[in-house]
Amino acid sequence: MSRDGFGSKLGIVAAAAGSAVGLGNIYRFPCELGNNGGGAFLLVYLMIVLCLGIPVMLCELVIGRKTQRNSIGAFKLLKPKTAWPVIGYMGVFCAFIIMAFYCTIAGWTLEYIIKAVGNQFQGKDLATIEQEFNAFHNMGWRNVLWGSIFIFLTAFVVFKGVADGIEKYSKVLMPMLLLILVVLAIRSLTLPGARAGLKFLFHPDFSKITGDVLISALGQVFFSLSMGMGVLITYGSYIKKDDNLATTALSVTLSDTLVAVLAGIVIFPAAFSFGVKPTEGMGLVFSTLPMIFNQMPGGYFFCIIFFVLLAVAALTSTISLLEVIVAYFVEELHIKRGWATVIASLGCMVLGVFASLSLRDGTSITIAGMSFFNSLDFLSAKILLPIGAFFTVIFVGWLLGKTKFFEEITNQGSLKLSVKGVIFFIIKFLAPLAIAFIFITGLL
Ligand code: PHE
Repeated sequence: MSRDGFGSKLGIVAAAAGSAVGLGNIYRFPCELGNNGGGAFLLVYLMIVLCLGIPVMLCELVIGRKTQRNSIGAFKLLKPKTAWPVIGYMGVFCAFIIMAFYCTIAGWTLEYIIKAVGNQFQGKDLATIEQEFNAFHNMGWRNVLWGSIFIFLTAFVVFKGVADGIEKYSKVLMPMLLLILVVLAIRSLTLPGARAGLKFLFHPDFSKITGDVLISALGQVFFSLSMGMGVLITYGSYIKKDDNLATTALSVTLSDTLVAVLAGIVIFPAAFSFGVKPTEGMGLVFSTLPMIFNQMPGGYFFCIIFFVLLAVAALTSTISLLEVIVAYFVEELHIKRGWATVIASLGCMVLGVFASLSLRDGTSITIAGMSFFNSLDFLSAKILLPIGAFFTVIFVGWLLGKTKFFEEITNQGSLKLSVKGVIFFIIKFLAPLAIAFIFITGLL
């Protein structure tokens, strides 16, 4: 079986961090936080990252690297003729779903690059920017077009196997994104009335911690760290035997969380200063950001650079999603990489059409009272990812077992890892209990 092309030359930390950092941090995180009580959400989020982030990530990386297979093949190899590969199938299904709505938003970043280049935000007030944003997401087919272009870009990279090239760029571009977020944070914090936003973000009101907040935070952690659906199993399978899995998991988790918190520090002070409601959802990010650029020297250039970087960050995430599907098609169904890419992206595009069109006001494309777009988001982040992560930790904790887990994370004993006992304890007992508890309280 050939495992060349995509993965062989990837710098794994860059690739996994590229998958993790994306719209989940800069777009979804502020939306969820704004809708789920601000500081209380942040607190729960950080606690989940701290307790579950690294252990769950390690489980996936271990399964992938140990088996050198895609997310379905890995379970087939470890537990043949059982139901365990179902976790892998769920992950592939989830990749389609996330691709569909993720590429819609990713498409907007392309539209915003064009708008930024055309200087279309400058001098406008909030009401106008908001109105234009609303008009834009109501233009169904334009969204479809941008979303499809984004899927096409992703497919091109995955098909050509040039992901290592992208990773090389993103090693430079992602620190730039971080830098620009710091600049934006400074501008945001010095706006009049910014304090209220900081208070919203950092002063937890414990009475706001409900089952909804818990499940939203759990889902956001998994979504943001690309966990619970096989991305890290697939990427793990491309990791070399002498790479250090624990430091990989640590650096990916830390950088992803840093970007999310920074995005919060950019968005909320500015939103409060301009009078954008924290519960606004999509508009919170897509209206507040252009307003910040409007209020800073060099805003024209910063705005262009920012949206280009955001598009690249989104691209390194969609590459990882598509790769989950393509790796499965190639290795398990023996479809050629080219065809596998075409079929997978067409599937994502079809779902994406409905996701994009369902964002129009008064849409009739709904499921259980939610727009199709929102129901895909809900189904993946709050249902499929927690279930996937739950069974992954159960699998490692109770079936794969301590010895094999330790062998893999210490590279057959050649690395020292003093906290490995604690990590395994979390994987075996704490993580499954915590995920099950949050899942049940959240959905009741
Ligand atoms: N983690 C990515 C982001 O935050 C999204 C993603 C989710 C990617 C699940 C892969 C798998 O933007």
